[in-house]
Amino acid sequence: MLTCYDYLTAQIFDEAGIEVLLIGDSAGNNVLGHESTLSITVDQLIPLVAAVAAGSRRALVLADLPFGSYQASPSQAVETATRFMKEGGAHAVKMEASAYYAEHVRAVVKAGIPVMAHIGFTPQSEHALGGFRVQGRGDSAAKIKDDAAALVEAGAFSLLLEMTTSSVAAEIEAEFDVPTVGIGAGGATTGQVLVWQDAFGLRKGKKPRFVKEYADLHTVLFEGARAYRSEVLSGVYPAAEHTFES
Ligand code: KIV
Ligand code: NA
Repeated sequence: MLTCYDYLTAQIFDEAGIEVLLIGDSAGNNVLGHESTLSITVDQLIPLVAAVAAGSRRALVLADLPFGSYQASPSQAVETATRFMKEGGAHAVKMEASAYYAEHVRAVVKAGIPVMAHIGFTPQSEHALGGFRVQGRGDSAAKIKDDAAALVEAGAFSLLLEMTTSSVAAEIEAEFDVPTVGIGAGGATTGQVLVWQDAFGLRKGKKPRFVKEYADLHTVLFEGARAYRSEVLSGVYPAAEHTFES
């Protein structure tokens, strides 16, 4: 699973065989330049979901529900998830959830919408959790397992585990029948997810420990932009082959 926020990358990742394309609320950071994932709205995210749905043929198109769009009540969750399916063309939604939100997940599942439940470190709660911290050390391991149990019971088809200790992730993977997808949760989960701009080196700067760079797109685009500019300035571009004659 990779994040994906537009038509052309959706085509590439889908053709490459990526099973799940996540239109994450991380679009706030990676597309809109926001400082956290908290500010992106449903109206901003739905067009990106539609673009990814248009670009993919076989991948599961998974839409993140933004902060504030599903927490108020189970019926708010159903209404928001329904918009992502109807207007965005998503196949499923992801909700940052704890056991407390089991009834919200259940209502969305009952409405016919598959739900992936995101537990462990949940960025929409970064202020409540006291910052970006690994979850599952000491006493909090039991809480994550309780969350997993309640959300699987509520009908979640899969669990996303973010920044948990690898031992908690391995226990959850072993204990429940649903597939798990990890990010910073070690190697025992069924699948893995990364933000594509991290995985392919578009975003530079300090990276979380769990990121591995499979390409250096920052350098590719930087060098390309510099070469284009210098050829325009020197007159090398456009050449005869790029020019229409009468
Ligand atoms: O929004 C996102 O990109 C995510 C993944 C990192 C799991 O939720
Ligand atoms: Na997210």
